[in-house]
Amino acid sequence: MSETFIVVGAGQAGMQLCDTLRKNNFGGDLILLGDEPSLPYQRPPLSKTFLSGELEPGRLLFRQPDYFRKIDVDVRTGASVARLDCAERKVLCDDGAELTYEKLALATGARVRELTCPGHDLENIYYVRTLADSVALADKLGTVGSIAVVGGGFIGLEVASQARALGKAVTIIEAQSRLMERVVSPAISDFYLTLHQNRGAEVKLASQVEVIEQLPSGQLEIGLADQGAVTADIVVVGIGVVPNSEIAEAAGIACRGGVLVDAYALTSDPHVVAAGDCTMHFNGYLGTEIRLESVQNAVDQAKVAAMTMLGEREAYHQVPWFWSDQYDVKLQMAGITAAFDETVIRGDVEAQAFSIFYFRDGKLLGADSVNAPADHMACRRILAGAKPLSPTQAGDAAVNLMLFAKADQ
Ligand code: APR
Repeated sequence: MSETFIVVGAGQAGMQLCDTLRKNNFGGDLILLGDEPSLPYQRPPLSKTFLSGELEPGRLLFRQPDYFRKIDVDVRTGASVARLDCAERKVLCDDGAELTYEKLALATGARVRELTCPGHDLENIYYVRTLADSVALADKLGTVGSIAVVGGGFIGLEVASQARALGKAVTIIEAQSRLMERVVSPAISDFYLTLHQNRGAEVKLASQVEVIEQLPSGQLEIGLADQGAVTADIVVVGIGVVPNSEIAEAAGIACRGGVLVDAYALTSDPHVVAAGDCTMHFNGYLGTEIRLESVQNAVDQAKVAAMTMLGEREAYHQVPWFWSDQYDVKLQMAGITAAFDETVIRGDVEAQAFSIFYFRDGKLLGADSVNAPADHMACRRILAGAKPLSPTQAGDAAVNLMLFAKADQ
C-alpha cells in the first residue's frame, strides 16, 4: 500500500514541501491542506505592488491548478485542520474529514497580531496578511483620502509607500522610538524616517495607540497616549505576527514561541516535520535557535523538511536574508546583525545607494543594502563562505566584493 504524506498549510513553505517531495521521487499519496480559499500564492506583493491594483489576484498564484494534477498533489483549499492525533497519526478537519498519514509536515505559518485597544473591532480597520486582506484593502484604498498606519515595520511602511504613491495622506504610528526596530540598525531606521518624511508621510514615533473611535463623519480617530490624536479615513495595522502553533501544541508536540524543530526540521514527534514562519528552529548557520519570518526561511527549511520526510537528512544551514520595497528604494538584508559592535558604510548614502556592513569582534555579521543589490548578493556569498571580510575591505570601494566572494568558492 502506498504511503500518505500530508502537508498542513498551503503557503510558501507548504508549496515548497510538495515540490521538493515530488522532485525527489516521492511516489506515495500527497495531500496539501490549506484553510484559505485560494491555491497557494505569493505573499510579499500583498503589501507592495498588489495594493496599487496593477496585479490581478490570479497573478500571485505559484502554480495553476493543472500543475497540482501534473505532480499529483491532492490540494484541498478551504480545509481547516481542527486537531492532530499524533498517536493515531490522524489529521482531523473542521468539516469532519479524518485523514491518516505516515508522515506529516506542519507549514502553518503565522497570523497577524491584532490590536486590542478599545475600538479595535470598528469597521475600516485593515490588516495585511492574506490575499483576502489585500483585496479588501486595495479596493478601499481607491476610495479614501487618508490612512493611518499602525506599526512602522515592513508591512506598515510598505503600505504607507503604496498609499503615498496613490496620493493619500499618510500618518505612520510606531510604538518604538525608531522604524523597523526589530530588524535593522538605528542608522537604517534614520534613513527610512527621512525617506518617509521626504515623501510626505507624517511619522509619529514612540506612540501608543490607546483608543480608536468613529467620528460622526465616519472617519476614525486614533487616540495616542500623550501625543494627541490622528484622524484618518481608514486604519491599516501591521504590528507583527504570531506563529500558528496551537494545533501542534494541543497534540503534544514541543513548542516554544513556535513549533520547535531541530536542524533537520524534525519536531519532537518523529513522524512530524515543520517548516517556515511557524517554527522555532535550530539554525546551523547562526548556531542558535531562532524564529524567522521570511521567504528564504520558508523555502530553504521546507526543502530540508521534505528530505527528512524522505529519510534523507540534510541539516539546515543557510544565511538568512530578507527584503522590503518602499517607494523606489529596495532594502535587502543579509545575516542577523543585531549584535554588531562596529559598522562600515559602503557606497553613497546621499545618493540612496549604499550598504551598512555589521561586524562583531571584527567578524562579519551581515549587511543592510539600500538600492545596492550587488553588495547584498556578495554579502550573502561571503557569509556562506569561509573567507573572512575585514571592516577595512568592506569599506574599500576598490575591493570588488563579488570577486572577493567568488575567490572563496
Ligand atoms: N502600536 C504601534 N506600533 C506597534 C504596536 C502598537 N501597538 N505593536 C507593535 N508595533 C510595531 C513594532 O514596534 C514594529 O516596529 O509594529 C512593527 C511591526 O513590525 P514587524 O515586526 O516587522 O511586523 P510587520 O510589519 O507586521 O510584518 C509582519 O510580515 O512580511 C512579513 O517579513 C514581514 O515578518 C514580517 C511580517
